Amino acid sequence: MDPKTARLDGRTAVVTGGASGIGWGCAKALAAAGARVAVLDASPANLEKTAAEAGGGDFVFDRLDVTDPEAVERMATSLNGRLGRVDLLVNSAGIGRRSDAVDITDAEWREVLDVNLNGTFWCCRAFGRHMIADGRGGSIVNIGSMSGDVVVRPQNNAHYNVSKAGVHHLTRTLATEWAPKGVRVKAIAPGFVQTPLTAYAMDQDPAMTATWLANTPLGRVGQVDEVASIVVFLCSGASSFVTGSVLAADGGYTAW
Ligand code: NAI
Repeated sequence: MDPKTARLDGRTAVVTGGASGIGWGCAKALAAAGARVAVLDASPANLEKTAAEAGGGDFVFDRLDVTDPEAVERMATSLNGRLGRVDLLVNSAGIGRRSDAVDITDAEWREVLDVNLNGTFWCCRAFGRHMIADGRGGSIVNIGSMSGDVVVRPQNNAHYNVSKAGVHHLTRTLATEWAPKGVRVKAIAPGFVQTPLTAYAMDQDPAMTATWLANTPLGRVGQVDEVASIVVFLCSGASSFVTGSVLAADGGYTAW
C-alpha cells in the first residue's frame, strides 16, 4: 500500500455498531476505499435494513452484542478464520442516555459504561490479540466523543461523558502498549452528528438543537460522511505516524 494514500485495497475491516449512523457511514467509506467490511451490530432490525441497502457487495453482516466478552472473542476468532485476517477495527457501537446525576439508576450507569467503554475494550482486546499474534499488526479507530473531553450543554449525562473519557484514555494506553507490536490505536471525538442517536433533539427539541448550534463555531451539526472520511484516513497508511491521538471532529465546539 502506498503510505501516502488512503486506499485500503486488500484490507479487511470490522465495524461494531456498524448497522446505523456513524458506523454504517464508516462501513460504506471503508468499502469505497477498497476494504472488505464486516458490519457487526446488536440490532437485528438495523442489520436487516443496512444489508438490504448494501445489496451484497463487499460486506459481511453479523449480529454481535459488544457487552458480551465471550461472544466478542468468538466473533474475532470466527471472522479472522472466515475472512482470512482482520486488519482494521472501528469501534462505533455506542448508546446515549440523559439524566441528572442524582437520578441515574445503577442499571443505567452500568448499561452506558458496559456498551461504550467495556464493549470497546472487549473488542480491542479480542481483535488486537489476533493482529498482534501473526506479527502483521493492524489499525484500530475508536469512536469517542467531544463529551469525553468537555462537558457538553445543555443535557446532563455523566455516564456518557465518563464512558467517552474512558474510551479516549483507553486509546492512548493501548496505543503505547501496542506500538512495538505494530497496532496503531486512535480515536475520533465527534461533535454533534446527525444520526438516530441525536434525533431526540434534532427532530423533537428545537431549543436544545439551537443551544448545540450556538456553541458550535461552524454553526451546524456534522454529517456521517464527515466522520467516516477521517476513519478511512486513520485506518490507512496515510496516517502511518499517528497513534494514541484523539482527533476532534466537532465543528470547533471544543475550541471555545
Ligand atoms: P446510532 O444509534 O445511529 O448507531 C449506534 C449503533 O450501535 C446502532 O446500530 C446500535 O444498534 C448499535 N449498538 C448499540 N448497542 C450495541 C451493543 N451493545 N453491541 C453492538 N452494537 C450496539 O448512533 P451513532 O450516532 O451512529 O453513534 C455511533 C458512535 O458515535 C457511538 O459510540 C456514539 O457515542 C458516538 N458519537 C455520536 C455522536 C453523534 O452526535 N451522533 C457524537 C459523538 C460520538
